[in-house]
Amino acid sequence: MKLLVTGGAGFIGSNFIRYYLKENPNDSIVNLDKLTYAGNLENLKGLERDKRYKFTHGDITDFNFVDSLLKDVDAVINFAAESHVDRSIDDPSPFLNTNIIGTQLLLESSRRNKIHRFIQVSTDEVYGSLEPIGLFTERTALRPNSPYAASKASADLLTRAYFKTYNFPAIITRCSNNYGPYQFPEKLIPLFVTNALMDEPLPVYGDGLNIRDWLYVEDHCSAIDIVLKKGKEGEIYNIGGNTEKKNIEITDKILNILKKPLTLKKFVKDRPGHDRRYAIDSTKIKMELGWEPKYQFEDALRKTIQWYIDNKEWWERIKSGEYRKIVVSG
Ligand SMILES: NC(=O)c1ccc[n+]([C@@H]2O[C@H](COP(=O)([O-])OP(=O)(O)OC[C@H]3O[C@@H](n4cnc5c(N)ncnc54)[C@H](O)[C@@H]3O)[C@@H](O)[C@H]2O)c1
Repeated sequence: MKLLVTGGAGFIGSNFIRYYLKENPNDSIVNLDKLTYAGNLENLKGLERDKRYKFTHGDITDFNFVDSLLKDVDAVINFAAESHVDRSIDDPSPFLNTNIIGTQLLLESSRRNKIHRFIQVSTDEVYGSLEPIGLFTERTALRPNSPYAASKASADLLTRAYFKTYNFPAIITRCSNNYGPYQFPEKLIPLFVTNALMDEPLPVYGDGLNIRDWLYVEDHCSAIDIVLKKGKEGEIYNIGGNTEKKNIEITDKILNILKKPLTLKKFVKDRPGHDRRYAIDSTKIKMELGWEPKYQFEDALRKTIQWYIDNKEWWERIKSGEYRKIVVSG
């Protein structure tokens, strides 16, 4: 099978490419990425000489270019997105352009090229915020609260419409918060780990009691691999780790593991529209497709922190802006 992976130079996309090629040695991947600030070819170091992998620099909103890539592709996995909530609050426009228009153009080109399977990688943020009890199921109403979440929800609706209108073989996955290697140090866990390693303050929003459901990135990758092979067209699959944690608990844990003082915690003004709680019910993907997460939170968090300790050069180059100078080829 030949896949087109979009956004493969980002956090989850790059982890997925490594995971997929390891698990599926006879398949090949074309990685289409615009290399925005979040795309980094250093995330794929070592794969350049692998004949099964090809990087292509481009934008999912460039219809003709995407169309030319899809001629002999079997399946598309769409990771490409503007993905940071705070940036969407500062300026929603690039989110609408890539996440909504880009997804529609990708769907349209995939439909015309008779792609056999299209996975839209979505997020639990489309469901909005939960009360202290209850879980998001695939039937929960969409109530996005940030421009980022609204753009992802819009892309989900377009994906559904392509299935209903054209019988196009699309599937949507909605995953909870990921963590692991190669995550851009603007997101909570890598930001706090790298700040702590530099003895800089850890900026905690509001009272720090917001709850997220955390999943190690490799477990997200294995779920997408299963959905690609066994998922049912037109369906939505929630993916989560059943690991609800308050932001403040994660902050304390990171400081404890790194043996840094709790005084590095700094409470800052809350994010507008900050969702209070997310929690995912993954029963459907477990029961229907047999997926199970492999990693426990405590172990995977330690593994992640160790990765940031061992790969200081990677995140220092990002924090200094040096990584943007890498030459784009192919
Ligand atoms: N990070 C999470 O916790 C999480 C959880 C659930 C779902 N998701 C979804 O998973 C996907 C990947 O998330 P991530 O955290 O890896 O994001 P990321 O920001 O690390 O990576 C996004 C990638 O998309 C590329 N990109 C952006 N605009 C593009 C365009 N117009 N054309 C081509 N490439 C473009 C970027 O260069 C980057 O490489 C996103 O769709 C996101 O909504 C993320």
